[in-house]
Amino acid sequence: MTSPPARTTLLTGIGLLATQYDALGEIENAALVIEDERIAWIGSTADAPAADSCVDLAGRCVLPGFVDSHAHLVFAGDRAAEFAARMTGTAYSAGGIRSTVAATREASDEALRANLARLAAELRAAGVTTFECKSGYGLDTATEERSVRLAAEQTSEVTYLGAHVVPAGIDRGEYVDLVCGEMLATCAPHARWVDAFCEQGAFDVDESRAVLTAGKAAGLLPRLHANQLTAGGGVRLAVELDAASADHCTHLRPSDIDALANSSTVATLLPLVEFSTRSPYPDARGLLDAGATVALATDCNPGSGFSTSMPLAIALAVREMRMTPAEAVHAATAGGADALRRNDIGRLAVGQRADLVVLDAPSYVHLAYRPGVPLIHQTWINGKPA
Ligand code: NIG
Ligand code: FE
Repeated sequence: MTSPPARTTLLTGIGLLATQYDALGEIENAALVIEDERIAWIGSTADAPAADSCVDLAGRCVLPGFVDSHAHLVFAGDRAAEFAARMTGTAYSAGGIRSTVAATREASDEALRANLARLAAELRAAGVTTFECKSGYGLDTATEERSVRLAAEQTSEVTYLGAHVVPAGIDRGEYVDLVCGEMLATCAPHARWVDAFCEQGAFDVDESRAVLTAGKAAGLLPRLHANQLTAGGGVRLAVELDAASADHCTHLRPSDIDALANSSTVATLLPLVEFSTRSPYPDARGLLDAGATVALATDCNPGSGFSTSMPLAIALAVREMRMTPAEAVHAATAGGADALRRNDIGRLAVGQRADLVVLDAPSYVHLAYRPGVPLIHQTWINGKPA
């Protein structure tokens, strides 16, 4: 049997194409050819080849699709009251996670699936073409297995986060053994990553090391919630284990910045969480100036920050964390790909997956310049409008 002939689509009239490659950089008056799921040609509109179909983008800016490398989307229930109390002075703590765990355990597969699909659709509408999704609101073997299985229906970037907090009614040593034993063995076939919440009120450095080491032995790749609420040892542990990413990095010591800058561990910053918990923003400038790789992600979850808006995360990174618009967009695309150790997404070049965002704006600067305005004109995934 012969395969059908390749279909080509020419996107022309691109006002500004921001490739996120240093060498190619930004191209004005650009065009791009998609062949099936991949980019087949990039150049200027004047030189564009013929294709089976053509879309004129009328001067709009095109970027790689956003790569959201940190999200918790398998859950039930609502913590709006906790948010409202926080806005009048109650501090965020890891304890709120247990209320989502209770609601998630009660929910049917259908209810969890529907909530996850709704949030995945929100992410796509916000320009996200790849997202990571964690378990962590089950905290028993059956509900963690359901969580990673349902997440795998929506994304290949599934993370096993049995070590989110110690649930009520079990001794912590016994729980860490469960997370490293039966629960891990049950969840690992559905996941690519293992994560732990290394923090006061969650898991200490030794417990987190045990979980990530067991996950690695089961074939999973490590990433870590690190230094969210306190300047503890999470970042150093992430670097020690060559984790793909240390996430949050809200409270960093100078030695943590040095450790990240001299490692292949990406610092994933989650400014929607600082916005929603009224915490200080992480030191993005210090990380970038030291040479660390920085990613931006949503951390969409029902507790610390319930937003799917990568554009708002970019605007906060620029306004509150002093990243330039170019640095923030790079962190939300190429940075996210690096945090997922993916080299087929997050940058635009011949051979890359045709995952794109078309902005209703002439430049990506508008993502920060026009905060809160819906500027996503189209999201293309695998060479097709999503
Ligand atoms: O990344 N920090 C741990 N986990 C989530 C919050 C979870 C929750 O509050 O439900 C986070 O912020
Ligand atoms: Fe998180």
